[in-house]
Amino acid sequence: MNYIWSKKSLLDFIYKNIVKVVWNKNFILSDLFAWTGIVGRYFKQKWHKVIANDLQYYSYILNKNYIWNHKDLYFSWLLDEIPELLVWNVNNYKEIVCNYLNNLPWKKWFIYKNYSVGWTTGAEFERLYFSDENALRCDGIRQKIESWKKKKLINDNEYYFLLASLLEAIDKVANTASVYWAFLKKLKKSALKTLELKPANYYLNEQEHDVFNEDINSLIKNTSHEVVYLDPPYNHRQYSGNYHILETIAKYDNPKIRWITWMRDCSIQKSDYCKKSEVLKAFDDLVQNIDAKYIFLSYNDEWLMNLDEIKKIMSKRWDYWVLKQKYRRFKADKTEARNHKKDETIEYLHYVKIK
Ligand SMILES: C[S@@+](CC[C@H](N)C(=O)[O-])C[C@H]1O[C@@H](n2cnc3c(N)ncnc32)[C@H](O)[C@@H]1O
Repeated sequence: MNYIWSKKSLLDFIYKNIVKVVWNKNFILSDLFAWTGIVGRYFKQKWHKVIANDLQYYSYILNKNYIWNHKDLYFSWLLDEIPELLVWNVNNYKEIVCNYLNNLPWKKWFIYKNYSVGWTTGAEFERLYFSDENALRCDGIRQKIESWKKKKLINDNEYYFLLASLLEAIDKVANTASVYWAFLKKLKKSALKTLELKPANYYLNEQEHDVFNEDINSLIKNTSHEVVYLDPPYNHRQYSGNYHILETIAKYDNPKIRWITWMRDCSIQKSDYCKKSEVLKAFDDLVQNIDAKYIFLSYNDEWLMNLDEIKKIMSKRWDYWVLKQKYRRFKADKTEARNHKKDETIEYLHYVKIK
């Protein structure tokens, strides 16, 4: 998953500057607003231990796969059902299991019944989030993964890997303009492609990593860190609403969905970092309570907190600095789904060395 908010094109800037500032080069990186874990993954690739956290459950699944998983998967208990696993070696196992899931019978369940064209055609409000075939495939695959888990035919590492692969695959064929608040009126080209599970590969290494699914302000009161990286939301759009369908596929909990918005109840996942009236209080509470040696923050000047407010809050912990880099960001274009216009901006990396 890669949207305009992602730090993907800034990873080098973030990594180089954190390593330059932090005295002990072997530090643990805590990426506590992790989303897809793209920043943590970069540090994991460079052999750091990583701690990841996010409020959203689908983010937790992605991070359990990309960060927490760090050894090969064997799928040993699936040998009876997928005999090809006997023939090939470990490098092919992930692909074999994904291919097997791609060829399952389709199922008419939650995603098909709530978010596909076919089931809702003729209803008062049609919903074109997915083509019929992709919604049916998604339900078939999601149910199979859960039944394997229930029967203990896959372990937690395999479960998170398969779910992450499904989340990545379904997002590629979603008929939306970037986020899931609304669908497009006609199925776009990429939504007409067949949903295809591909292995959501992760870096192998020897470190044990930790992943949490908590509100950051609660988490930091019960945990210790070394180097904390913060990349909070920067506007009023809640991530819980932006990605509600991914949350439902991750949880697959048959939720009640609301009339017209077709969204699950996201109220308990509303973030104070998306509220102008709450963000300063939440950020101050966060920064003052973090037990760590360094805090780094990505936050630009056009967002909910201004640069002076950030400086004032972070300076309370001691030695505050800010680094800047010009950067050509891709901006959402309202008329074309997921085509983005370039826009020059300045990227800020604030940090404080803690006394
Ligand atoms: C800007 S995104 C992070 C982007 C990520 N660094 C990247 O480059 O892809 C912010 C993330 O913070 C999460 N979030 C918002 N409020 C939170 C809170 N109170 N506790 C934990 N996570 C939160 C959101 O769910 C979202 O995934």
